[in-house]
Amino acid sequence: MFRTLTLAPPDAIFGLTEAFGRDPNPDKINLGAGVFKDEAGRTPVLAAVTAAERRLVDGERSKVYRPIVGEARYGELVRDLVFGDEPPPGLGDRCVTAHSPGGTGALRVVGECLAKLPRRPTVWVTTPTWANHRAIFSAAGLRLEALPYFDATANALDFGALLDGLNRPAPGDVVLLHGCCHNPTGVDPSPTQWQQIAERLSARELLPLVDFAYQGFGDGLQEDAQGVRMLAERLPELIVCSSFSKNFGLYNERTGAVSILAENADAAELVRSNLKVAIRSNYSNPPAHGANIVRTILDDAELASGWRAELAMMRDRIRGMRTLFVETLAAKRASLDGAAILRQRGMFSLIPGVGPAAAQSMRDKYSVYIVDSGRINVAGITPSNVERLCDALVGVL
Ligand code: LMR
Repeated sequence: MFRTLTLAPPDAIFGLTEAFGRDPNPDKINLGAGVFKDEAGRTPVLAAVTAAERRLVDGERSKVYRPIVGEARYGELVRDLVFGDEPPPGLGDRCVTAHSPGGTGALRVVGECLAKLPRRPTVWVTTPTWANHRAIFSAAGLRLEALPYFDATANALDFGALLDGLNRPAPGDVVLLHGCCHNPTGVDPSPTQWQQIAERLSARELLPLVDFAYQGFGDGLQEDAQGVRMLAERLPELIVCSSFSKNFGLYNERTGAVSILAENADAAELVRSNLKVAIRSNYSNPPAHGANIVRTILDDAELASGWRAELAMMRDRIRGMRTLFVETLAAKRASLDGAAILRQRGMFSLIPGVGPAAAQSMRDKYSVYIVDSGRINVAGITPSNVERLCDALVGVL
């Protein structure tokens, strides 16, 4: 029977990691998957994580199952990270937070719950968006539509088009936004624009679903949550999918959460019960280790402050590499708008003019791996690879 299958294409992002592994060139550069790297090109385990793991190993007495939605304390800590230590009154009773295997697991569970609503909503995604969004929501049985977002000529947010676009979804449809550090463009709304988005979503009775995978990589943990918190103040219902892959460096521990704000505590119970069914029929209950690490860090003042300092170091290194990248491009007289690249936030930069053909040439001619959309993982740039990266870009442009 398996011979009747057709060969599926490689994954747009992790397929690059596989191709990179096969490339024999010793000077190859991987700027594909969104993974933080230090100056030496390594993805370190954070010191706060190692310290938490030591405590966990010493204190662990059992590996018994976790509750279907994960531990309550983890849920509370994640909720405070997302909505702040002083959230709007009553938010705690309206909020259900479930531990999920990574941000992807959170999105998929949400997709399955949305697909069970009596009126199955369409999910509206920004153009462009993370390569996996479409796959996740269509696998869950939902229809997707595109919203305008990015003006490639100006390398900036096309805010007017986005606001206009928000007039198209039907009431009850879902609008998928990126909480900060938009993937792949690095272009985010300003606080004033978030306010306008919140108002438009409210007026049109749309349900925001925020993919929040880079909290702390833009301007800071609190600053990056401004948009999400404005939505929480303005709207009766909101879904936030958090990932701790990047900000805690827990990529392979698959650690994330979904936080759903319902209209009131009774509706929150309906949400919780349906989340449980979606989780139980997918992976039964979540893997504990990554969430144990996050809980141990956030529940301990010293570990938490060490973690925040490490997060700030990662953020600063990415910013430094963004500047170096722009300066190196300028020195090579590349025809790219450096100011626009410097305005982008987080791990990524989308390079206008680089599409699938140019990305393929970068791989074939220069052994430089970037996503076909022209997305570069700025966190993978180092002082020792920036020259070769910019030569490759200038070459294909
Ligand atoms: C990315 O966009 O590269 C990361 O979020 C990794 C992934 O899962 O695709």
